[in-house]
Amino acid sequence: MSDFQGRDVLSIRELTKSDIQLVLKTAKKMVPIAVGTRRSRALEGRILATLFFEPSTRTRLSFESAMARLGGRVLGFSGTEGTSVQKGETLADTIRMVEAYSDVIVLRHPQEGAARLAAEFTEKPVINAGDGAGQHPTQTLLDLYTIWDEKGAFQGQNVTLVGDLKYGRTVHSLTYALAELGAHLTFVSPPTLEMPREILEHVKERGLTFRTAHRLEEVIRDADVLYVTRIQRERFPDPQEYESIAGSYRVDEAILRDAKRGLIIMHPLPRLTEIAPEVDRTKHAVYFKQASNAVPVRMALLDLILGGAE
Ligand code: NCD
Repeated sequence: MSDFQGRDVLSIRELTKSDIQLVLKTAKKMVPIAVGTRRSRALEGRILATLFFEPSTRTRLSFESAMARLGGRVLGFSGTEGTSVQKGETLADTIRMVEAYSDVIVLRHPQEGAARLAAEFTEKPVINAGDGAGQHPTQTLLDLYTIWDEKGAFQGQNVTLVGDLKYGRTVHSLTYALAELGAHLTFVSPPTLEMPREILEHVKERGLTFRTAHRLEEVIRDADVLYVTRIQRERFPDPQEYESIAGSYRVDEAILRDAKRGLIIMHPLPRLTEIAPEVDRTKHAVYFKQASNAVPVRMALLDLILGGAE
């Protein structure tokens, strides 16, 4: 029995280095099942509930695919239309209900802290699939898997995070994890969308140095991994502020002229204009591979939490 059995996954900060390594190694073993060349019934009879109060494509579908590949079933909703949330039902009551219908609950919600709150109302494991501008721990696990799979290590890698570092939950979780794993971090954003101070403080406390910049041109040549993010329009209090910043960073072939040969470009997706389509053809682009890694990584997590194969 692993430490994961029955456990909530609310923040990446609750996972130790060895927890992360266990997920990554388990994910590697899941690949033949994830791509359909091997079959598994490890989670037969188990039910996953996906409660998505915010839009999602990859996260929800890859959780569904992961559960189906392991022989389990999925129920849930995507958007609150057609649910009792529209009638004013509280998150607490929704969770109390869904607890009886499933073995594990995946929740995405616009409010920071929603997954942690939900976990207080149920004994069933709750997985945070994004809570506002807070965290997105399972995205981080697949991001880490991608770096490990492509680069073979974390220690000493120059990872440059670019875009909306203020509201982007994927970069918040990823920064905490990479600080633990010993990567060198560079943060590139407009002045108004910098990484929150408490996260930078945490990186310092871990004894790591980091760089900040406002222009990608200044730092691109040192990067081993470039993690690009979308400006999170839905979290802007003022639409005009969004308009003034949208499109301020764009990774295209011109900027990549200064890049290392082995640079990999990642993005949690969806992408808007921040990566030019011409970049897709370059050997640097791994973002679609990264999205496909979601399936074995989420399979690993579900298997470890529900105690499937082992
Ligand atoms: C991200 C999210 O929802 O935080 N999407 C995802 O899960 N892959 C990134 C984003 O929406 O920009």
